[in-house]
Amino acid sequence: MAELKPGEVQEVQVDGMAHGGEAVGRLADGRAVFVAGAIPGERVRIRLVDLRKRWARAELVELLQPSPDRVTPPCPHAEVCGGCQWQHIALDRQRQLKREIVQGQLRHLGGVDTDLVEETRSVGASDGFGYRNHATFAVDEKGRTAYHRKGGHELVAIDSCPLLHPILREVHEALPPLPGLRSIEIRAGIHTGQRLVMATGEVDAAPVEEAAARGVPLKGPGEGEITEMVGSERFRISSKSFFQVNTEGAELLSRLVMEMLDPGSDDRVLDAFAGVGLFTVPLARRAAHVWAVERSRAALRDLRTHTRGLPVHVVGTELERAFSQLPPRIDLVVADPPREGLGEKSVAALSGLQPRRLVLVSCDPAALARDLRLLIAEGARLERVVPIDLFPHTYHVETLALLVRG
Ligand SMILES: C[S@@+](CC[C@H](N)C(=O)[O-])C[C@H]1O[C@@H](n2cnc3c(N)ncnc32)[C@H](O)[C@@H]1O
Repeated sequence: MAELKPGEVQEVQVDGMAHGGEAVGRLADGRAVFVAGAIPGERVRIRLVDLRKRWARAELVELLQPSPDRVTPPCPHAEVCGGCQWQHIALDRQRQLKREIVQGQLRHLGGVDTDLVEETRSVGASDGFGYRNHATFAVDEKGRTAYHRKGGHELVAIDSCPLLHPILREVHEALPPLPGLRSIEIRAGIHTGQRLVMATGEVDAAPVEEAAARGVPLKGPGEGEITEMVGSERFRISSKSFFQVNTEGAELLSRLVMEMLDPGSDDRVLDAFAGVGLFTVPLARRAAHVWAVERSRAALRDLRTHTRGLPVHVVGTELERAFSQLPPRIDLVVADPPREGLGEKSVAALSGLQPRRLVLVSCDPAALARDLRLLIAEGARLERVVPIDLFPHTYHVETLALLVRG
């Protein structure tokens, strides 16, 4: 067989979706090929762009047999903007694919029973748009807000983004050109209507005044805050504090964590990556004590405000260093680590607390699968896995996993 070369055009059948949101097919020589913009089940013509020993990457040239789940992306920027990878896929199919991605990672990296993976839960509008309460734009040389091009580093000016909540869309569309800035971050409390626009970089006074006159005054990095409601709980979110970008998603996450942990009035609970207290606060309303571990100074200030008067012990350090400040027995754990997951040391230390139930919240199915393997090796039993579509029209998926002791 002649050796394949970059630039060559091939026909392939794509039959899977990879963890990073690209469809996967097989080249004639057996190598896996990743094709952005294709949908499993489609026959496509592709141009090879990168050939490695075991895999290749290609660009989509022509759809030979389109999927019945292919839709026209409503956003005019969808073809070029790197923000959404899946606008060309019907929403129901996106959710099936997210479940399959979680199952695939759990099977390959976790070695666990994928029948436990439930249907993907969804929240928000029926078209999947208008959910983001937070967005960060780069700024191009003309001062326009921009995202990075699909698969590249160049900037693409974006004048309107349908993923943004209507409050944030209004803020975004009101921004004048702000040449000289490096980035603009916008946040909103969708239940309070509060807005915050943070700018980094140098800009002349005139456009800043124009922004203020249009109702979008600029703050500097680290300045300002917004307030958001999650159910009946009020959260102050400082500009540097983490908060879920999908408020309705945050409500569902919080409800599911409470349902899975089901704290009793004698229970001692650990919220291992507490943020501003999304889970800490409702847990502390039912449990005897909650230990809330968080390392960010901004989030800690917010967390302390939200937990005043509640039986919460705030531990302001990294989880890895927090164990000496925790009691020897903890009944329930919720752990919502950053993308890289828990890792070996934290899994061993958390398992040593012997919690009755542990809920792991993850935004990366591969990290989730690796952590589950470790937790199960330490004696935990996996009981439920729930993918949640917090980020429609992108390949990102949030997953909750419930583990019980023994
Ligand atoms: C994914 S967020 C989750 C926060 C919260 N559960 C929520 O849903 O709003 C992770 C949080 O963990 C904090 N964090 C990251 N690494 C940490 C570590 N090693 N120890 C303690 N906190 C950490 C971050 O500052 C962030 O607030």
